Amino acid sequence: MTLTVTPSGMACGAEVRGLDLSQPVSAELAAEIRNIWLAHQVICFPEQDLSDDDLERFTLAFGPFGDDPFIAPIPGRKHIIAVKRAADETSPIFAESWHSDWSFQEKPPQGTCLYGITIPPEGGDTLFTNQYKALAEMPADLRRRIEGKKAIHSAKNAYSPKGMYGAGDKGRSMDIRASDEAEAAYAHPFIRTHPETGRKSLFGCAGYIVGVEGMDQQEAWDLVTEVYRWQTRPEFQYRHRWQKGMLLMWDNRCTLHMATGGYAGHDRLLHRTTIGTA
Ligand code: SIN
Repeated sequence: MTLTVTPSGMACGAEVRGLDLSQPVSAELAAEIRNIWLAHQVICFPEQDLSDDDLERFTLAFGPFGDDPFIAPIPGRKHIIAVKRAADETSPIFAESWHSDWSFQEKPPQGTCLYGITIPPEGGDTLFTNQYKALAEMPADLRRRIEGKKAIHSAKNAYSPKGMYGAGDKGRSMDIRASDEAEAAYAHPFIRTHPETGRKSLFGCAGYIVGVEGMDQQEAWDLVTEVYRWQTRPEFQYRHRWQKGMLLMWDNRCTLHMATGGYAGHDRLLHRTTIGTA
């Protein structure tokens, strides 16, 4: 099988053609896809026709399922969540702020797979930012101030009962279950070495990052927001435009991503799985 890889021409991202993911992925093919993924951080496979079984099988070719807290899986599946929005929905867009999926976990997931089922005719792009590049080009003084420091990650601002998706979040079609468990926190180094590529990358950002170990809250927040302004700059970004039947796979260890709106009056539905860390 010959795969065709077309880089996006932006800071990361590539399109991969020449394979049918409704068929089993051999270990050899999985290794080939993994190498492309590691090289481009975000890869998409257009024109696929995948069932939920196919999506799960593809995910498991790259690792165990990750643990998806706070969002109920779709009926009949334990490891697929629906990222969805109804045409007439008015609640804030889900995930419309930069993040690395579940970075507040002790072992955050390697990656995420997202498959487009109902794609609006306009809007609803997903933005990514390349955190290898953001670190490599970071001003030396800012890098020096985060080198060796650990950021405190928590889901509390999003998923605690007082958080964005908590009690006040009405009329959402996604099945989000806010919980006190979101108050838990876990620290990770601001700069981590990617376990597979050996390259250094920034990890996570303000939102799930709520503090810095050993710093008072104001000092920590000033630093976290300064890093955020740098790591989300346009020159580090890739804009992913969706098509129905497109499977997208991103590496949470070296990217951030966020959803965008711009499709009011249209339904949007994607099925998502998480590639956990073994
Ligand atoms: C997500 O963060 O998984 C959602 C991305 C999107 O809806 O574009």
